[in-house]
This record gives sequence, structure tokens and C-alpha cells, in this order.
Amino acid sequence: MSATVWALSLAHEIGGSPEGLAAALARLSTGLSEAEADRLCGYRRPEDALRFAAGRALVRSLVLDVQDQAAPHPVRAKDIVFGQRRGTTKPVLAEQCRGLVRGVADFNISHDGDWVLAGVAGRGAIGVDVARVFCPEDMGDREYIGEFETQLSAREAAWLLERSTDRLRDFYRIWTAKEAYVKATGAGIAAIDLRTIDVALPHAGKAMCVQAGGEDAPFAFETGVLGDGGYVFCVASAPGVARAIRTVGIGDVERCLIPAR
Ligand SMILES: CC(C)(COP(=O)(O)OP(=O)(O)OC[C@H]1O[C@@H](n2cnc3c(N)ncnc32)[C@H](O)[C@@H]1OP(=O)(O)O)[C@@H](O)C(=O)NCCC(=O)NCCS
Repeated sequence: MSATVWALSLAHEIGGSPEGLAAALARLSTGLSEAEADRLCGYRRPEDALRFAAGRALVRSLVLDVQDQAAPHPVRAKDIVFGQRRGTTKPVLAEQCRGLVRGVADFNISHDGDWVLAGVAGRGAIGVDVARVFCPEDMGDREYIGEFETQLSAREAAWLLERSTDRLRDFYRIWTAKEAYVKATGAGIAAIDLRTIDVALPHAGKAMCVQAGGEDAPFAFETGVLGDGGYVFCVASAPGVARAIRTVGIGDVERCLIPAR
């Protein structure tokens, strides 16, 4: 049992043209359910539609990738239907396809700007989060981070304001870890006081450590950067589950989505 995360750079695939975007959207819409296709039509900005379609396509391709497609009734993209975990907005495999799909205990999606991430776990829960490393032009990073003061633990604030040598990037690494935790639980960001999630980034040979409500979080965390370092991500998954993180292209996604026979 392992956890696999695929990361897709949309800018790299689109090449900056509206035609490139439309072509990518068409390629990534394979397997969308009727409800998802309706939602796709509701997006006013084509970039948002593309990020949504790409997230769903990445998850479906990952789910298909872990199936044994030599089985008598191979799973198809359209067989993978999503519902919501009870009492939350977290997408999960719908009841009707749980019997069909093997080796998938949980999945999660994140998108921001150019990057879309999807993770699938064979055991336990998974939460993924990606964020662009950003600071408004008219603000210094100290001032910007200060705006999030009420959502940072005392240890995080001390690290960012007194010790970090890469303050803005470290802020986003902490932030994505908080979000990955929240998304693994499925609770939703509004239901949790983010100050109570306390992230210690890996440093001086010590591993990353996350506490929630004063207890060790029941997940192992991995933080990293994407592309040229302009984006950071974090994955929260069950401890002891091997993790693999891979950058993919639309061609890789299509190879999984569109059956060869
Ligand atoms: C889920 C949440 C943390 C996402 O944060 P974000 O950084 O804005 O967005 P991301 O791109 O990282 O993640 C979005 C994806 O998370 C997934 N998601 C949605 N709700 C989720 C939840 N409760 N837990 C985990 N993942 C969730 C979806 O796949 C979504 O992408 P999609 O709709 O395109 O498929 C945030 O939007 C949230 O808390 N939502 C819940 C809202 C809620 O609870 N509302 C109830 C009334 S307040």
C-alpha cells in the first residue's frame, strides 16, 4: 500500500494561448460525470474550468493506474464516480464504485495558479495542498505574513519572523502543511482554528513535525517545491505508507484515461 501524488503544470502544457487552453481542457475532460460537466460549464474563467477538469482527470488517471487492468472487467474512467464524505465537502469514491475500484482508500486534489496536484492513498487518509509563493507588490514579506498572525501558532510566528532565512517560502510551506492536514481530515478550513495546527518545518536534521490540538497529528507530512521553486506543496498521509511524488504531463494522464483496448 502506498500513496502516490501526481503534479501537472498547466502553463507548461498550454503554452499561454487560448487555443492551447481549449485543447488542454478538451483532453482533460475525458471521463467527467454529468454533474461534473455541468459544474465545468458554470465556471466563468476558463482557467478555473481547466484547473477543475485537470484535478478530476489526474485523480481518475491515478485511480486507473493502481488498478489491475488485466481483470475481466477493467475499470474505465467513466466508472469512477465521486460523492462526498458524509458531513463534509471532501470528494470520495461514490458508494456504487467502491466495489469496482481496488487499492484506493482515499484521494485528494489541490490546484493553484499553474499547478494541479492529486494524491491517492492505498491506506488511510490523504490531504494535498499546493500554493504559489506570493506576496503583494506593495508589501514586504514580514508585513504580509503579519496579516496571518491570528492563524499562526507562537512557534510558527517565531520561526518565520526571527529564524527563517527564506521567510516567504517557509510561510507557504507551513500554510500548505496546515491545509494538507485539514484536507486529510476532510473537516474544511472554516471548522478548525488554524492556530491549533502547529507546524515545525524540517531543519537541522530534524524531520517535519505537525501537532494538532497539542497532539502529534496522525499523519506523516512531506513538503517540497515545484518547477523553479515558485510553488510549494505538502502531502499528509498515513504514517508508514510509502510516498511517491511525480511530475506528469497531459499525455501521461491520457494514457491512463483512454483504454488501449
Ligand atoms: C477544501 C478547502 C480546504 C480547499 O482549500 P483551497 O486551498 O481553497 O483549494 P485547493 O485547491 O487546495 O483544494 C480544492 C479541492 O479540495 C477538495 N475538497 C473540497 N472540500 C474538501 C474537504 N472538505 N476536505 C478535503 N478536500 C476537499 C476538492 O477536490 C477541491 O477541488 P475540486 O472541487 O476542483 O475537485 C477549503 O475550500 C474548505 O475548507 N472547503 C470546505 C468548505 C466548507 O466546509 N464549507 C462548509 C460551510 S463553512
